[in-house]
Amino acid sequence: MKFDVARLREQFPILKETVYGKPLTYLDSAATSQKPQSVIDAISQFFLKENANVHRGVHYLSERATEGYENARHKVQQFLNAEHPDEIIFVRGTTEAINLVAQTYGRAFIGTGDEILITEMEHHSNIVPWQMLCEQVGAKLCVAPIDDSGELVLEALEALITSKTKIVSVTHVSNVLGTINPIQQIVEIAHTHGAVVLVDGAQAVPHLPVDVRALGCDFYAISGHKMYGPTGIGALYGKASLLEKMPPYQGGGDMILSVSFEKTIYNKAPNKFEAGTPNMAGAIGLAAAISFLATLPQDARAAEEKDLLAYGTRALLSVPCLRLIGTACSKISVLSFVLEGIHPHDIGTILDREGVAIRTGHHCAQPLMKRLQLPATARASLACYNIHSDIDRLVAGLYKVQEIFR
Ligand SMILES: Cc1ncc(COP(=O)(O)O)c(C=O)c1O
Repeated sequence: MKFDVARLREQFPILKETVYGKPLTYLDSAATSQKPQSVIDAISQFFLKENANVHRGVHYLSERATEGYENARHKVQQFLNAEHPDEIIFVRGTTEAINLVAQTYGRAFIGTGDEILITEMEHHSNIVPWQMLCEQVGAKLCVAPIDDSGELVLEALEALITSKTKIVSVTHVSNVLGTINPIQQIVEIAHTHGAVVLVDGAQAVPHLPVDVRALGCDFYAISGHKMYGPTGIGALYGKASLLEKMPPYQGGGDMILSVSFEKTIYNKAPNKFEAGTPNMAGAIGLAAAISFLATLPQDARAAEEKDLLAYGTRALLSVPCLRLIGTACSKISVLSFVLEGIHPHDIGTILDREGVAIRTGHHCAQPLMKRLQLPATARASLACYNIHSDIDRLVAGLYKVQEIFR
């Protein structure tokens, strides 16, 4: 099936907006993606016709809301190819998913002298929760290196995994470099040494089909807002055998079977990890985003992304004094770059006046910036609705930046 981008763009109302009188060129989807009409409609439909609290009521609306919420869990299960819907925990996003694992699995099963292994390309949300855990339990944080192209040095990672390594927590796709990590291989190595593996899938799910059983990972974290869904909702996949033995995350309603002042009996997963009223509208919106993704012809979409990435790479490299950051063989359509002598914030500000939205800064990856010996980069990140003319506008804007700074 052909990939009809023009028709696809029609589904994203915000793309018709203008910025400073110029058509919006949105190249910041790695920060958050835009939302198709179907997702917007699913959320407003929930509030217009179905809103009630879940799990607790016997009335019609509560049952509908519960059905919508639990159907969304099934949808995420199928999307990630988890074995059972109970392996899907709704959270606020990837950040909360990782904190949940650190504070439940980590507090229970990681102790003094144990090691946690991450990589140099991690987002702060896959660094700081582990540092907090290390402080709490006396464990040590180890970091696997990357090479200058932005690829993980797999042999070095392997050498860092020992019997002390209790968890390997690695991003599937780098938000700065676009690098796709070889998760299956990492899982195999980690499992050989008895370590569990958490995968930060925030940047992977908008671009790649993900099958947690094929990957073999123990935990997989995603954010709805990066995959055409709403903010404030995400999911943590966890293997049932692990979720079962993990203590709860937060205490409150819904995560219990019974409460008395003497003793509280906790619920089973996933409810054990979902204290309080959940983000029902968010879960329903996330399910709509998954349905939207399912309408895209996978092969044609992948080919289109590859083509656009190649076009964007060539176009950027034609700009004098521009250096691309992140040139791994296997990467998604994220284009980080620096322009000699011009601070990325200046690039971003001038491009903004041209209607071109990119992100500049450290991208919540300060240790990676240190590794790259850069204070910041400019980053254009693409999604399924981007077209060649978006790249052309970016490049035209960069020439303008250079004119101003010449
Ligand atoms: C690789 C990666 N991990 C984690 C996160 C955090 O996601 P969230 O802010 O949705 O929790 C991001 C967000 O940019 C990311 O790019």
